Amino acid sequence: MSELHLKGNVALITGASGGIGATVARYVADAGATVVATYADAADAMQSLSREIGEAGGACHAEQLDQRSPESISALVEVIRQRHGRLDILVNNAAWNVAVPFGDLDALSVDIWDRILETNLRGPFLLAQACAPLLKADGGGHVVNISSIGGITPIGSSIAYACSKAGLNHLTRCLAVALAPDVAVNCIASGLVENTRMADRAMDADAQKAARAGTLLGTGATPEDIAAQLLAFLRSRSITGQTIAVDGGVAGAMR
Ligand SMILES: NC(=O)c1ccc[n+]([C@@H]2O[C@H](COP(=O)([O-])OP(=O)(O)OC[C@H]3O[C@@H](n4cnc5c(N)ncnc54)[C@H](OP(=O)(O)O)[C@@H]3O)[C@@H](O)[C@H]2O)c1
Repeated sequence: MSELHLKGNVALITGASGGIGATVARYVADAGATVVATYADAADAMQSLSREIGEAGGACHAEQLDQRSPESISALVEVIRQRHGRLDILVNNAAWNVAVPFGDLDALSVDIWDRILETNLRGPFLLAQACAPLLKADGGGHVVNISSIGGITPIGSSIAYACSKAGLNHLTRCLAVALAPDVAVNCIASGLVENTRMADRAMDADAQKAARAGTLLGTGATPEDIAAQLLAFLRSRSITGQTIAVDGGVAGAMR
């Protein structure tokens, strides 16, 4: 496979202070793109990632973002427009979860439901909406949404999380239509990535180990697996509207 050259491109990666987003940011910067990497609260993690990418010869600009807030999203996109004048890649990676067992319907409060749906589904839509003019401008843009196999089969940290990711999978198809032919829109449905904050909030270490053992390949996803699939999407101009599971093979997540 030919090497991916993103020199001159600008990539917005949300949630880069988290486990998967940081690795995605490293890969995209390593391919030559200038990365605009967002964090919500973890300013220290973000600063150390920016420094690390800079020391490796890449470019990474850290920006604070609360994607529940439309104002925060428009302010971020305005910074990108003014500072870089272009945007080629949007990676909708940021998300939030909390563990609520599916059977405990009463524990899934309106506040939890709203926070999850606002962060994981409305946020990616508002980001795509705000970024669309920049992404379309040069005719070769990409949106990659980071979803979950919980959006394909009814598993995950809560019903609200699973539904937010099912919505994100369909948003991928809808945006592929809306942004064609200038922007390809695709999605990665991740399986469990052990030892991330999100995985730790969803289940304890033994349950994570059991989930890994239950996959067909005996492995969950790693941040590197997710980043590699993302680069594969960025290489292609003939794939759009697709969701691919990167999960070690979870039978219920096969379509
Ligand atoms: N880890 C897994 O097992 C797993 C499995 C399936 C799918 N995924 C998906 O993979 C993606 C990355 O997950 P991860 O494991 O890297 O999670 P993580 O370590 O918890 O990181 C989540 C990221 O989202 C940011 N974030 C949270 N709320 C936000 C908000 N309101 N506005 C903007 N940013 C916000 C966090 O910012 P701060 O840290 O700065 O607060 C952090 O950067 C998510 O979409 C997740 O659903 C993960």
